Amino acid sequence: MKLLITGGAGFIGSAVVRAAIAQGKAVVNVDKLTYAACLDNVKSVADNENYVFFHADICERAAMERILKETQPDVIMHLAAESHVDRSIDGPGAFIETNITGTYTLLEAARSYWSAQGKPEAFRFHHISTDEVYGSLGATGMFTEDTPYDPRSPYSASKAASDHLVRAWGETYGLPVVLTNCSNNYGPYHFPEKLVPVVILNALAGKDIPVYGKGENIRDWLYVEDHADALLTVLERGALGRSYNIGGENEAKNIDLVRMICAHLDQMRPKDTPYADQITFVTDRPGHDMRYAIDPTRIRDELGWRPSVTLEEGLERTVRWYLDNEVWWRALQVREGVGTRLGAG
Ligand SMILES: NC(=O)c1ccc[n+]([C@@H]2O[C@H](COP(=O)([O-])OP(=O)(O)OC[C@H]3O[C@@H](n4cnc5c(N)ncnc54)[C@H](O)[C@@H]3O)[C@@H](O)[C@H]2O)c1
Repeated sequence: MKLLITGGAGFIGSAVVRAAIAQGKAVVNVDKLTYAACLDNVKSVADNENYVFFHADICERAAMERILKETQPDVIMHLAAESHVDRSIDGPGAFIETNITGTYTLLEAARSYWSAQGKPEAFRFHHISTDEVYGSLGATGMFTEDTPYDPRSPYSASKAASDHLVRAWGETYGLPVVLTNCSNNYGPYHFPEKLVPVVILNALAGKDIPVYGKGENIRDWLYVEDHADALLTVLERGALGRSYNIGGENEAKNIDLVRMICAHLDQMRPKDTPYADQITFVTDRPGHDMRYAIDPTRIRDELGWRPSVTLEEGLERTVRWYLDNEVWWRALQVREGVGTRLGAG
């Protein structure tokens, strides 16, 4: 099977690329290489005969059509996106452009390619999205696939719009689509502006560890390699036109997650004082969603998929990975905006 993966030089996309190559699949990686991308994320597969990379923008229809025609993939997995909520508050334009217009452009290129192929039923346009489209929960309840959309940040609104477009192309044109909405990912190769790497790297640098508000916000945390495995499962066995929520079965308050990371660092890189002493509460993000939680019943019952890693295990692996891969993260810390407070409103 040949997969065309957009955003394969990013955090989750690169995990999917590595997992797919490990399964013996062929991969066409299409990425614009924005500030969030790093080709080192796919260095381990770069010389594989089943792997090819195209430096291209999903907003450019001609480029997408040319790559599809030239590489003849069996399926498309669409992960390319602007993904950082704080950046979407400061500059929503890029989110509208890539997440909405880019998804529309890719859908049209995919539709024309699929039609030219004789509309094979086995073709898939797999759209990768977020649980943030469902909005914010109170203390109880969980997001199911039937939860009404209620996005509240420019990022989640742009992802919600892209989900609607993908469903519409399925209904209107018969394009064989499948969708997934997943919770917060963490793990190796996570760009150093996101919460988990910020905590690890600020802790190691002896800096303040910033926690928004009182750290009471709750997220469900999914280890990125489990997410990649779930995506490949949905791609191969998910029902046509269906969407699947993917969660880690690991709900935690931000402050507890930060304390867990600090405790792993205390074990692995001990110093005189506990790393948790560096925790500092900072002004909250505007419109900060209180709680996300995923009801994983559908993917578990219909596809037999469950996460393999607990939050404790996943965080231990992640902290170890950052300690062992300083060259990787140091190179990214100099990129624009990294290490500064974004999206404070
Ligand atoms: N990180 C999470 O916790 C999370 C959770 C749920 C869903 N998602 C979704 O998963 C997908 C991947 O997220 P991520 O965290 O890996 O993001 P990321 O920011 O790490 O990577 C995004 C990749 O897309 C590429 N890209 C951006 N604009 C592009 C364009 N116009 N054309 C081609 N490539 C472009 C970037 O260069 C980068 O390599 C996104 O669609 C995101 O919405 C992420």
